[in-house]
Amino acid sequence: MKLTVIGCGYLGATHAAAMAELGHQVLGMDIDPDKVASLNAGRAPFFERDLDDLLAKHTATGQLRFTTSYAEAAAFADLHFIGVGTPQKPGEMAYDLTHLFTAVRQLAPRLTGPAVIVGKSTVPVGTAPKVIDILREFAPVGDQVEVCWNPEFLRESYAVEDTLHPDRIVLGFTGQGTRAEAVIRQAYGQIIESGTPVIVTDLATSEMVKSAANAFLATKISFINAMAEVCEASGADVHLLAEALGHDARIGRRGLRPGLGFGGGCLPKDIRGFMARAGELGADQALTFLREVDAINNRRRERMVDLAREQCDGVISGKRITVWGAAFKPDTDDIRDSPALAVAQALHQLGATVTVFDPKALDNARKAHPQLDYVDHPLGAVRDADLLLHLTEWPEFTRLDPKAVAARVANPRVIDGRGTLDPVRWRAAGWTYRALGRP
Ligand code: UDX
Repeated sequence: MKLTVIGCGYLGATHAAAMAELGHQVLGMDIDPDKVASLNAGRAPFFERDLDDLLAKHTATGQLRFTTSYAEAAAFADLHFIGVGTPQKPGEMAYDLTHLFTAVRQLAPRLTGPAVIVGKSTVPVGTAPKVIDILREFAPVGDQVEVCWNPEFLRESYAVEDTLHPDRIVLGFTGQGTRAEAVIRQAYGQIIESGTPVIVTDLATSEMVKSAANAFLATKISFINAMAEVCEASGADVHLLAEALGHDARIGRRGLRPGLGFGGGCLPKDIRGFMARAGELGADQALTFLREVDAINNRRRERMVDLAREQCDGVISGKRITVWGAAFKPDTDDIRDSPALAVAQALHQLGATVTVFDPKALDNARKAHPQLDYVDHPLGAVRDADLLLHLTEWPEFTRLDPKAVAARVANPRVIDGRGTLDPVRWRAAGWTYRALGRP
């Protein structure tokens, strides 16, 4: 099939490459010429495992191309996936839907025949009908343009795998047995034939699935981090607690990793956007618990700063503090709402000299936080440090020999914000080891 993907960020670029891998002819469209040039050269403008391989493979044959032109996209296919960003509005909890509505308004007048628009961007419930209104107003073919909502659940760092092998496909339509349903089922044919469950819903439910899923995941993480607070007060160990809880199949171990909490471009923004939308709908009481989920998450960052102060004998100002990790989680260079950088920034503001190392996210971190120091080697970054903070759990950190690290610091004191350093090894190497949620 021929199809386009409008908006080629983390979601769209991965979707475009994955659709090409499924055998389709794909044109990706993005308004950013630099991004388009990089993608056409077979390179993602961000780090995502396996994505460059797919981009290189399919741009080389011409099966996958990228453009900045809406006209070219409209003429290329009659199946259009929309994956533009829907960030949080500055200073507000709600989503900023400008990019989405602009993309639809740009595309609509150029649709001259029957077409299917598939929304993949994360949106507040009630957005798809607004997209339909724009299409009715601006598309010359009127109701021959059908809309499907198909939320995307990919995790960064597993984006390619999650797109090619999703655990479910959710499709929201305006009615039953639409042409849009036949078209999208054909586009996902290989995935569906491999046994992936397909859940067909109305538009509102399909939009809600994504909001509810992310609200649940965020709640699960904040639940275990709330338990960490009680563990800290009582001398219990939250990592052992999580392991023990996780054996109960009703609870499950996944997403129950305690630590510095969640960040990234999705969970923080999505729970806030969900609360804002529930408020507009008069259902705000139903989601007041998400305020607490958000607050627990933010308290982990504050607790890390307090622990750092404690380890610096009560005074952060003038201390040399090394932060291992800048990405919001391992295996990505994404620093959006990164807990690690939030802590690094807070310590800098309290007067510490903060040196950051991250295996992939240094360039992004440097641009966003030029006031911090950066060293591109984990051992180089700890030189003469008074305190080491482990804030993003890259596997390379657990592999380092704590003795070799100790030889370079001024004071062998470490706080493990992710609980993946082995306390026995680190203490045996002479370190004062502290961790969130551990005695
Ligand atoms: C998330 C959802 O998983 C995905 O389904 C949705 O589409 C987008 O948001 P992502 O942001 O890529 O994906 O990351 P995820 O792996 O879910 O982690 C989110 C954050 O939670 C990270 O900061 C991670 O470090 C943290 N986390 C995750 C925990 O602190 N503990 C856990 O047990 C799991």
